[in-house]
Amino acid sequence: MLNEILKDVSDYIAWELEEGAVTVEASPDILAALSLPTTGSAASTPSAVPKPEPTGSTPFVEQKKTPATPSPPAIPPALKTLAAEISACTRCGLYTGRTNTVPGQGNPQPEILFVGEAPGKDEDEQGLAFVGRAGQLLTKMIEAMGFAREDVFIANINKCRPPDNRKPSREEMDTCLPFLKRQIAILKPKVIIAMGATAVEGLVPLPEGETISKVRGQWLQFEGIPLMPTYHPAYLLRNPAMKRPVWEDLKTVLGFLGRPVPPVKTTEG
Ligand code: URA
Repeated sequence: MLNEILKDVSDYIAWELEEGAVTVEASPDILAALSLPTTGSAASTPSAVPKPEPTGSTPFVEQKKTPATPSPPAIPPALKTLAAEISACTRCGLYTGRTNTVPGQGNPQPEILFVGEAPGKDEDEQGLAFVGRAGQLLTKMIEAMGFAREDVFIANINKCRPPDNRKPSREEMDTCLPFLKRQIAILKPKVIIAMGATAVEGLVPLPEGETISKVRGQWLQFEGIPLMPTYHPAYLLRNPAMKRPVWEDLKTVLGFLGRPVPPVKTTEG
């Protein structure tokens, strides 16, 4: 029990650091229990964060890679042109704080397009979507479905990192959305998995009062493409118990694609 609490706290701190937090509030007792320094900024020493323990009985543990396709098709020129346009974009204020734009990456003919909110610190530094801690969990989710990361396409509503990882404003989302819409038109995914409220709200205006927890797991549509709303991996890092419902959502997607549900590994090792 104590281990689980410590692991949740550890996951939370690691997530905050991942999201670019400069300081993380925690009592000295917690820091001592986690073997973190009690002085200075915890965030300035990310390597001091203990590695999370194996995820135990959660569904998203390391899976054997079983690529659905031997080698992904070449990136079509239209996607490259779009990425170049994105890299030169100054349509909203977010461009002033970016290191790199993050157009998204993956198989240009994917069965599944995963959509998140916006790049975080690691993504901004590398110019790649979902490469930080949330991205590592996303990789496990993808592999739990029997795919490799290279089999799917991963993108965000916003292509630039908002300052302090704040949620992008509606205006910033609407300004950036034409890029994602053009990507979707080129990629023609069979299914879109929208991760988190921002991704869902960006693509499908939800009726007043609807929340991600109400709509998750229920099919929506984006321009005729089935869209599965589910929780964001960063939320799962803070709320590991929510991995179960997300796994149900991913299984629904597998059923739609006519793919078998790979057996869930309940322990690592
Ligand atoms: N969170 C997101 O929504 N997107 C990323 O690329 C990384 C973290």
